Amino acid sequence: MEQEPHAAPALGDRTIVLVGLMGVGKTTVGRRLAHLLHLPFVDADHAIEEAAGCSVSEIFARFGEPAFRDGERKVIARLLDGPRHVLATGGGAYMDLRTRAAIKARGISVWLRADLDLLMDRVGRKGHRPLLQTGDPRATMERLIAERYPVYAEADIVVDSRDGPHDRVVRAIIHALEEYGALPRERLP
Ligand code: S3P
Repeated sequence: MEQEPHAAPALGDRTIVLVGLMGVGKTTVGRRLAHLLHLPFVDADHAIEEAAGCSVSEIFARFGEPAFRDGERKVIARLLDGPRHVLATGGGAYMDLRTRAAIKARGISVWLRADLDLLMDRVGRKGHRPLLQTGDPRATMERLIAERYPVYAEADIVVDSRDGPHDRVVRAIIHALEEYGALPRERLP
C-alpha cells in the first residue's frame, strides 16, 4: 500500500498557504493536500463569509472591495495565529502587504501558477466572481496576471497547474514541499 506523507515534524507550526489567481484550483487542491498530510483545511473566503454572515459577492455589492479586503486581512491573520493547517486564500489576499508579511512570518506559501487559457477555462464554468463581472473578463484576467504574478512570485514555492487532474498538482506540491525541507523526504512514494 502507498504510504501517505505526514506533515509533522518538519513543517513545525507553519501553515501551508496556497496563493494564486481565481480558477487555479486552490480550494480543491488545498482540500486534497490537507487530507494527504492529515492537516485541517480552511478556505479563507468561506471563513470570511462565516464571519460576515453573507457571501463574498454580497460583501462586494453591499460594502465594496475595500471592506472585503479589511475583513480578509483580519480573518487570515486570525487563521495564521491558530494551529497549523492548509489554507486556501482568495486571489487578492497575497497582494495585501500586511497579509503577505503575516504569511511570510507564519506560513509556507505555495503559488499555484497557471496560464490565461487554463484560468479562463476554469472560471468560465462558474460566474460568481465579482471581479470578473466586467464586459471583458478575459482582458480583466490578463490585467490581473500582469499585476499579480510578479508579487505571487515572492511565494516560497511555485507549482504549475496544467490541464489535467488536480491530484497531479497535489503530488507536485508535496514533492516541492519535500525539496523545500518542509516534509520528510522518505515519505514520498
Ligand atoms: C478575488 C478572488 C476570490 C475572492 C474575491 C476576490 C481576487 O477568491 O476572494 O472574489 O481578488 O482575486 P478565489 O481566488 O478563490 O476565486
